Amino acid sequence: MNVIYKDTNSDEWYFANNSYILSETDDKGIITYANDIFCEIAGYTLKELMGEPHNILRHPEMPKIAFKGLWDDVQKKGFWTGIVKNLRKDGAYYWVHATVLRRINLKGNVSYLSIRTTPLRADVEACTTLYKELKDKE
Ligand SMILES: Cc1cc2nc3c(=O)[nH]c(=O)nc-3n(C[C@H](O)[C@H](O)[C@H](O)COP(=O)(O)O)c2cc1C
Repeated sequence: MNVIYKDTNSDEWYFANNSYILSETDDKGIITYANDIFCEIAGYTLKELMGEPHNILRHPEMPKIAFKGLWDDVQKKGFWTGIVKNLRKDGAYYWVHATVLRRINLKGNVSYLSIRTTPLRADVEACTTLYKELKDKE
């Protein structure tokens, strides 16, 4: 059983420090795999997630430029790391430190893997301010 819990004073959810939230997508960002804790923290069943675009988790406070950076970096450099605020199915949210990797199999097919851990609180606070500034400029 994975450990997730909610802040009693806000809509923020947390997960255990030693957990890894994993998902895989195809080359278009369509979810092809999610582990148990991904489903628990996002509030969806695996069945609901499979075949859906990964922006199903997009939080409205996330600036467009963050995801432009993600896609530019994974396509050009093969990896991206950043802090993301994700939307749960019930409208609440959780922050992650995400590393997205590009993979190419022997047939040349591209897929992506994201590995998420608990972010440092200082990074969450810095990104809350930064993302608001970036969002206000959109
Ligand atoms: C492997 C992988 C994992 C992703 N994980 C997330 C995620 O957890 N949350 C999120 O909002 N977007 C995630 N994205 C980015 C989405 O595909 C999408 O670009 C983003 O949600 C912005 O949505 P939009 O492109 O419709 O504006 C991920 C992309 C990839 C390739």
